[in-house]
Parts: sequence; C-alpha cells; structure tokens
Amino acid sequence: MTTLPNLRIDGDRLWDTIMETARIGATQKDGVRRLTLSEEDRRMRDWFRGACEAAGLTVTVDGLGNMFALRPGRDMSRAPLGFGSHLDTQPTGGKFDGILGTLAALEVVRTLNEACIETETPLCVCNWTNEEGSRFAPALMGSLAHVGDFTVEDILSRTDAEGVSVAQALDTIGYRGTQKVGAQPLSGFVELHIEQGPILEAEGKTIGVVEHGQGIIWYNGRITGFESHAGSTPMPLRRDALAALSEIVLAIEGLAIAHGPHAVGTVGEAVIATPSRNVIPGEIAFSGEFRSPDADTLETVHQGLQEKVAEIAARRRVTIALDVVWRKAPTHFAPAVINAVRGAADHLGLSHRPMVSGAGHDAFSLAALVPTAMIFVPCKDGVSHNELESAEKTDCVAGANVLLHAVLSLAGGPA
Ligand code: GLV
Ligand code: MN
Ligand code: MN
Repeated sequence: MTTLPNLRIDGDRLWDTIMETARIGATQKDGVRRLTLSEEDRRMRDWFRGACEAAGLTVTVDGLGNMFALRPGRDMSRAPLGFGSHLDTQPTGGKFDGILGTLAALEVVRTLNEACIETETPLCVCNWTNEEGSRFAPALMGSLAHVGDFTVEDILSRTDAEGVSVAQALDTIGYRGTQKVGAQPLSGFVELHIEQGPILEAEGKTIGVVEHGQGIIWYNGRITGFESHAGSTPMPLRRDALAALSEIVLAIEGLAIAHGPHAVGTVGEAVIATPSRNVIPGEIAFSGEFRSPDADTLETVHQGLQEKVAEIAARRRVTIALDVVWRKAPTHFAPAVINAVRGAADHLGLSHRPMVSGAGHDAFSLAALVPTAMIFVPCKDGVSHNELESAEKTDCVAGANVLLHAVLSLAGGPA
C-alpha cells in the first residue's frame, strides 16, 4: 500500500494528457495556437470540463469564463485551496506555458482519488481566462477581475484587433457562466509553471521556489506623423511615424539596459495604419512594456520613457500618445505557501533555489487576495512564447509531485 509520504502522481498519465491535448490548436512547428476564447480554447475547455467531471469534480464557470472544479474536503466550512493555471496560449505558443500547471492540478486530483485521500480543506482546480493577454489586454484578465482589480463591465467591453469584445467572444464559445465573478471563495493558491527563463537549466536545479514576481507596465501607443511621397519629400521635411517608433523602440531597450539586470523592456506589436512601399508612414499603433521586480526601478524607466517620448515628438514634429493600459506592482508571495513548496521539494529530495518570476502569472493576481506561491520547473534553453518551447518529462513530473505534496501540506491530508 502507498503511504502518504510515498504518494506520487502518475507521470505517464500527466505526460500523455499534455501531449494529447496539445493537438487542440496544434501548429505546423509542433507548438500550440489556442488564443483565449477562440474555437480552440472552447474545445480545450470542453475537454477539461469533461476530464474534471470524470474525476468527480463539480465544475462551475463564472461570468468571465473562469473555470473552477471543486473537490469536497472533510471541513466544508473552509474555503477551498486553489491550484491550477491557464489553458490559453500565445499565437505561436508552446505545449507547456499554463497548460502544465492546469493539467498537473487535474493529475493531483486523479492521484488523490486513486489513493482514496480526502483532504481537510476542499480543493479547487482553476483555469483562468486570458492569462496571456495576447488577444485582449490586459494579461491575467480573468484572475485580475476575480480579485477585483478590474470591473467585469470593463473587461467585457475590451476588444481584440478585429473589434470583437470579450462579451461577444465568451457568448460565441458558450463560456459566459452564471457564477458571479469573484464569488468563488479560495483560501490560498498554488501554481506550477515552467520557468520560461534560463536559470534552473543553467544551474542544474529541478525546482524553482518562486518568492517574488516582477512588476509590469503595459502601454498602448499611437504616433501620428504625416503621409507623403517617398520619392519627392526631402528628408528634413518628413514627419515619419515609423522613424519615430524606431527611436521609441531603442529608448525602451536603452532604458531597460541602463537599469539592468533588474529591468526588461519590449515593443511587441507595431501596425502601420496604411502601409505602402512608397508612402512615408503617417500613423502607427504600437504596444510596449517594462518589467522589474523593483518598484522604484519600474517607476524610473517609466518616467525616463515619458521624457524621451516628449523629446522625440518635438524633434520629429509628430504626435505621440502613450497610454498606460495596465500597471501591476511587484508581487511578494506568502511565506507559508513558499515554505510548503520548499518543504515538498525537500521531502522529494529535489534540488531547488529561490526565484523571482520574470513572466506574469495568475498567481500574481491571487497573491493580492489569499496566501499564494508558485513552483517553477526548467524549460529547454529558457525558451517560451515560442513553438519551440519544450520541457523534460522528468522535470514536469517532479514539479507535479511538488504540487501534490504542497497541496497536501496546505490542505491537510488524511485524518
Ligand atoms: C504572460 O505570459 C506574460 O508574462 O505577459
Ligand atoms: Mn503562463
Ligand atoms: Mn505565457
């Protein structure tokens, strides 16, 4: 008979589940394209709901499509312990980002079921809507609304590049649930995720015990110059929106480098309104972001960018609107949950190190509401948000076992 300390998840079943569901939205280059609230997302959600129900869980869906799969505990007066992640992906995403954490949570439940283990605190496997923020901004959309950082009305009215609103997209795939957003009580939250960076692999460590998360500022920008003939407009007379954007891209990069290594900055999107080979670009929309684990550094690069943008606009005689569409302070996870993760890694004899998360996660949202922490496992070459994203089966299984034992220590095992 398996005793509690020797309890392990079924690694083959976890791996097969990840590989099987990776077919939903599979890309030619072995990645996954499962944009939030798309048809592929609906198929994945349907699969997930079915698998949770087959595992005896009761699935509820809130008004923003957040999914909660509940497992009773001995003490039903306690709010459930939440664990899970997200099932949406980037346009050219991989098989593990978010998916590992959600499917590992399901695997933990399957393991507890087989071992006939009832926890003291009920459990709640979570799939949060639109963690990625690629189709609709901001990222962490469902979990941020759950904790009250955004109103439901605001989120429902957000639109994608085609003008489709979150409300329309939810209705199209049939995932605007009846549960009130934020009504699902949780007593804590644990999220397993691939690191999405190079540190664990480089150091040969299996588990990242995530103690902090970077702060984030997201911008939407618009540059208005003047369209004119590429052949006949002398260089000094041009008001070139793309040339202005080029300077902004380099300003963001330069500010991040100047305040490194604890700052990063990116321009990930840029669209010329009416592109033509022989027209000087007159109108460009773009997005930008800065991240840092240090609040002061984040503010410094933000201020630096405002000054730089004003200077570029004046010198180039273009108008630049730069709106902050999302701002999240650095996250500090809860010592009790961090200790549970570290304790589980020690119990399993796995090498580990403390970490700061470079990527954003739903756990950042939950940390504002309930004691929360994260578990990282290595991914190949630190690559993520790329179809090449890859992780070793042994590392995924190790991470899921840490999740299992962290959950057991937080929720209380057999009486
Ligand atoms: C989401 O993956 C983010 O970190 O932006
Ligand atoms: Mn993720
Ligand atoms: Mn991601």
